[in-house]
Amino acid sequence: MKITVVGTGYVGLVTGTCFAETGNDVTCVDIDVNKVNKLSNGQITIYEPGLEKLFERNLKEGRLHFTTSLAEGVAHGDVIFLALPTPPGEDGSADLSYILRVADDMGKIITDYKVIIDKSTVPVGTAELVHAAIAKNCSHPFDVVSNPEFLREGVAVDDFMKPDRVVIGTRSERARKVMGDLFAPFVRQGNPILFMDEKSAELTKYAANSFLATKISFMNEIAILCEKLGADVDMVRRGVGSDDRIGKRFLFPGIGYGGSCFPKDVQALVKSSEDADYDFKILNAVMDVNERQKLFLMPKISAWFNNDLKGKHFALWGLAFKPNTDDIREAPALYMIDALVAAGATVSVFDPEASSNVERLIGNKVTYATNQYDCLVNADALIIATEWSVFRTPDFDKIGSTLKNKVIFDGRNLFDVFRMEELGYHYESVGRAA
Ligand code: UGA
Repeated sequence: MKITVVGTGYVGLVTGTCFAETGNDVTCVDIDVNKVNKLSNGQITIYEPGLEKLFERNLKEGRLHFTTSLAEGVAHGDVIFLALPTPPGEDGSADLSYILRVADDMGKIITDYKVIIDKSTVPVGTAELVHAAIAKNCSHPFDVVSNPEFLREGVAVDDFMKPDRVVIGTRSERARKVMGDLFAPFVRQGNPILFMDEKSAELTKYAANSFLATKISFMNEIAILCEKLGADVDMVRRGVGSDDRIGKRFLFPGIGYGGSCFPKDVQALVKSSEDADYDFKILNAVMDVNERQKLFLMPKISAWFNNDLKGKHFALWGLAFKPNTDDIREAPALYMIDALVAAGATVSVFDPEASSNVERLIGNKVTYATNQYDCLVNADALIIATEWSVFRTPDFDKIGSTLKNKVIFDGRNLFDVFRMEELGYHYESVGRAA
């Protein structure tokens, strides 16, 4: 099939590459000349495990092309995916200006039947707006479909190739047939393609992310209660998650969820609810809990240092909002850094992938170590903010002999509490005995 993907950000590049990998002829469009040049020359622009190999192969074999010309892209694709940014506006609602501008332009250049697909996370009703924006300038037949993506950063290729489900929102039989054929190779194991109307598809995406965020905030509150009542959240998590109706995943407490999706999508759903004259009480609480959770370790750290962090030096492991990505958007580590520096402390940081992104953002507010042990030199304590695998079985002797004090504050519950006690550490984590 001939496919066009407009927008070569995270979702667009994964979508384009994975469709090329299944034999389609894909053209990706982006207004950023620099990016298009890099991609055309085989230089991948995002960090995503497993993507580079597919990208290089499909580029080399001529199934993946990049252009800055929307007209070229529209002429090429029978189906056109819109994978454009929808940043939160000042009031928290999704800003649709990128999508609607492209829709407007496409209306002027469409000359035969096209299926136009909203891949970005967009508020309920956007498919209708995109349809109207195209129709304003276009008398040729076309359909607008909502097909939200459920990719997780770090495992996006696998999520795309083997989705739990594909959600397709369209009431057009013609578009339904095209979309069914397009996604058939991805659901051979029997996972469902769920056809529904456009609005239900749009809401499914927000509901899924908001539900997952709710699970996390709920467990973060249970973790607080565990500490207050003397229970162990690891045990409670296992006990609760073994119930099939609840499920084992996304029950890990920590220092809050971050990233470009959960915070933005929960906020946008709250805003949509307000616009529909509805107060979505649970989601407001989910957001409040998450805000508080990002600084969950601070009172523990302060208390250990007698409420005076002035002149103290901390080693911070983990900057990315989660492992296997260099993405630092809404990363809890950044909030920790702000709070530590505001309290008069200095911070040395290490992250396997995200340091340069942080350096671009905050410069010399912290110092950047090139490995996890150098980061510990002269530090009064180690703080862990992201659960990278490389932090899971560290050399505790080396940590102990490099840190000034054997003190670890762990925001991701990486280590066994009793083992840490045996090793002579003062170890504090989330929802477990100190
Ligand atoms: C999330 C969803 O999981 C994807 O299905 C969705 O497609 C994507 O948003 C999107 O809307 O584009 P992502 O933001 O990449 O994916 O990251 P997740 O793996 O979901 O993690 C989100 C945050 O929750 C991270 O900060 C993570 O540390 C935190 N988390 C996750 C917890 O604190 N506890 C858990 O048990 C799980």
